Amino acid sequence: MKKSTVSKDSEDSQPWTEKYRPKSLEDVSAQEETVAVLRKTVLSQNLPHMLFYGPPGTGKTSTILAIARELYGVENMRLRVKELNASDDRGIDVIRVKVKKFARTVISKNTRGPPYKIIILDEADSMTYDAQAALRRLMEDSSNTTRFCLICNYVTRIIEPIVSRCAQFRFKPLDTSSSKSRLEMICAKEGMICDSQTLDELVRVSNGDLRTAITYLQTANTLFKNEMITLEFVRELAGFIQPDAIEQLIQSAESHSFNKIENTVSQFFLSGYSAVQLLFQIQDQIIYDNTGRFTEIQKAKIAMYIGEIDKYLSEGCDEHLQVLNLIVTISKNISNYETMDFD
Ligand SMILES: Nc1ncnc2c1ncn2[C@@H]1O[C@H](COP(=O)(O)OP(=O)(O)OP(=O)(O)O)[C@@H](O)[C@H]1O
Ligand SMILES: [Mg+2]
Repeated sequence: MKKSTVSKDSEDSQPWTEKYRPKSLEDVSAQEETVAVLRKTVLSQNLPHMLFYGPPGTGKTSTILAIARELYGVENMRLRVKELNASDDRGIDVIRVKVKKFARTVISKNTRGPPYKIIILDEADSMTYDAQAALRRLMEDSSNTTRFCLICNYVTRIIEPIVSRCAQFRFKPLDTSSSKSRLEMICAKEGMICDSQTLDELVRVSNGDLRTAITYLQTANTLFKNEMITLEFVRELAGFIQPDAIEQLIQSAESHSFNKIENTVSQFFLSGYSAVQLLFQIQDQIIYDNTGRFTEIQKAKIAMYIGEIDKYLSEGCDEHLQVLNLIVTISKNISNYETMDFD
């Protein structure tokens, strides 16, 4: 009796992303083609080395854990599966010592499942070049006893010889209806009240990342216990920028006055908004504008600038300077040359 209370308490305090992590391949939403191929592979019990790639929160880690559970059962997983992620050191020494040692150990034939172990290298795109190079040989030498599953967001950061040793599986951003039905299932289990429109917004602001959507849902539940969650609250959680603030930035670009642009950008940051979020929303407001405010060529150029700024931001450049850069560049792009005063 006491035992079940304890486990219920620990379940209650768990992040919902863990509590509702798919336990089997059947629970993995939206990745139909990938899951269909993987299911056949699991049935044959003959896994190749695998490379899972795709955006965050789309089910990569959950899928390999579900496969391992199906192959070995929960009890044997600890002996047969080794998981290394970005929090572990993954330089060349770890590959040479830890991974090599685990890959070479022979396993008992009496336990359930196929006669090999699985080494999961999660967030493999943060592995050093040398470590990846050391892995090449190891993957071949230990293929009798071990299968590797590399997981990453950016497949281009994995060296070609490793990619070519693996069967590749792409995970796509979750579509709206799959994300929504998973969120509805969680709401029902948690006794949460959330209308359809709010769930749609939750899915939209999380851009196909189900982990983010579930985290927002849990935060909303903690703060709004037993109350209906509002659309505004979801937007606030996601750091949604008021359309007015974006309109002011665009108008400052149209004014072609550097002083005005500088003031508006400073005001934007004083309101606490984030540059990355701005890129998402300004893209909606300009690229998908159909009022004829911007020409097709202007939209195409602005899309390129937004892409460039996104790259600079992901490399850690200063947010304020990059937004200033973006608005000045947009201003230059939409001027009709006679009024342009930047050149
Ligand atoms: N396809 C999916 N089906 C069901 N739940 C999912 C799916 N994708 C993500 N989730 C939910 O989001 C959480 C995070 O998923 P997971 O760790 O598998 O993502 P990931 O693709 O490995 O992301 P990252 O690239 O950030 O590591 C899971 O615990 C689960 O609750
Ligand atoms: Mg993961």
